Amino acid sequence: MEQQFPFLPRHLAIIMDGNGRWAQARGLKRVDGHRAGADNVRVIVTECRRLGIPYLTLYAFSSENWKRPPAEVAALFSLLLDFLGTEVARMEREGIRLMVLGDVEGLPLAQRTALKHAMKRTAQGRDMTLNLALNYGGREEIVRAARRMAEAGLPPEQYTEARFADFLYTQGQPDPDLLVRTSGELRLSNYLLYQCAYSEFYFTPVAWPDFGVDALHEALRAYAGRSRRFGQTQEQVNGC
Ligand code: FPP
Repeated sequence: MEQQFPFLPRHLAIIMDGNGRWAQARGLKRVDGHRAGADNVRVIVTECRRLGIPYLTLYAFSSENWKRPPAEVAALFSLLLDFLGTEVARMEREGIRLMVLGDVEGLPLAQRTALKHAMKRTAQGRDMTLNLALNYGGREEIVRAARRMAEAGLPPEQYTEARFADFLYTQGQPDPDLLVRTSGELRLSNYLLYQCAYSEFYFTPVAWPDFGVDALHEALRAYAGRSRRFGQTQEQVNGC
């Protein structure tokens, strides 16, 4: 691990906000902002893997994003296809396992097919898991987990927090240690509601297309300076 980070998050979750404003501030179209945002996804995935962050989750399309103009929705899905087209071979080569958090079946056929193919091809990846939250909503995930748990016919005494987590999209993964939201908004926007119970939050005014390696390092340094207590006192955490 690099010296500048005494400890890194095991799981980093990011809300990639501000593509539209980034574009508008430059006299560009919103879709240009999303394109720059997609390019930055490549940068951040590469750096997280290089640093050795084992889980990275990116909020790429929420279940509420369907309300956007159809042309913008289509552009986002087209960027997703481009991304998969250029990145899957590299992910496979570099040991990056791709997973989707969200309702894949509700995605357009081409994207659904490409995602399933990409997940299959990268399934053996051991160096990093890249979760793309797509057609994802945190409340929907919790309700879905409750329904699946009931369908599994578990007796009430097995309704525990640990067992419940097995029915979430993030089954088997650690909870996010650090949640980053770019572009100045101070909201969770229905993202990983169950999993972020004890996450550290980092908000930055930097728009997602400008959130490059240096900005990521700044967030990681801020995280390394946090004192995580999980409900305990500082003395208990220090072991005195
Ligand atoms: C929020 O910015 C961003 C999104 C809703 C989409 C994020 C998508 C990408 C970064 C590109 C595609 C993803 C992949 C994985 C290739 P916003 O447009 O709401 O920003 P605004 O608040 O400034 O309008």
